[in-house]
Amino acid sequence: MSAPASDHGHAEPTSFTFTPENLELAKRIIAKYPQGKQASACMPLLDVAQRQNGGWLPRVAMDAVADLLGMPRIRVYEVATFYTMYNKNPVGRHHIQVCTTTPCWLRGSDDIVHTCKKKLGIEVGETTADGQFTLGEVECSGACVNAPVVQIGDDYYEDVAPEHMERILDALARGETPKPGSQTGRQSSEPVGGPTTLKAFTTAQADANTAQADD
Ligand code: FES
Repeated sequence: MSAPASDHGHAEPTSFTFTPENLELAKRIIAKYPQGKQASACMPLLDVAQRQNGGWLPRVAMDAVADLLGMPRIRVYEVATFYTMYNKNPVGRHHIQVCTTTPCWLRGSDDIVHTCKKKLGIEVGETTADGQFTLGEVECSGACVNAPVVQIGDDYYEDVAPEHMERILDALARGETPKPGSQTGRQSSEPVGGPTTLKAFTTAQADANTAQADD
């Protein structure tokens, strides 16, 4: 397969075919949508194609999705280029995506980006020479209550401080999978300092409410 260099210097494949397993998976995904609305499967199919292609979407993979869904190719390009979850260039084994939108920025995402740059020796948008890490900045990852947030692969790392980020990167470099979720140990997105409402809600009140409900 010839592989011309793209604008970004990587080899751009000239063909893409879904594996039989992924084609079956694609058909099951398409079947979830009503007749005539198959284009709704565009996003999950792009995800399947990206995973098959080692974490990024060459144009031929977008074309394969468009052809499978009977969509104009330009409409698939529009979707793939809008969302940062689709990588239009190859990424490293660990794709470090630091959210830098306002809530995460207010909670120190600049320090997280700086820590990553310093530790990995790369700038945002670059991949380490050994192909292990790619660093990216993304807009809101949808987990603002646990800001700052860093997505790595399919995992979210939350309440991340620079020292956490260093530990996470060290663990990944050792081939380990650091524990995702809040790095400060809080459960889900509960308040850091414990309950802030219903503090005076006593057992007696709870009993009174239960009795009232029983009447
Ligand atoms: S702003 Fe970072 S998760 Fe929403």
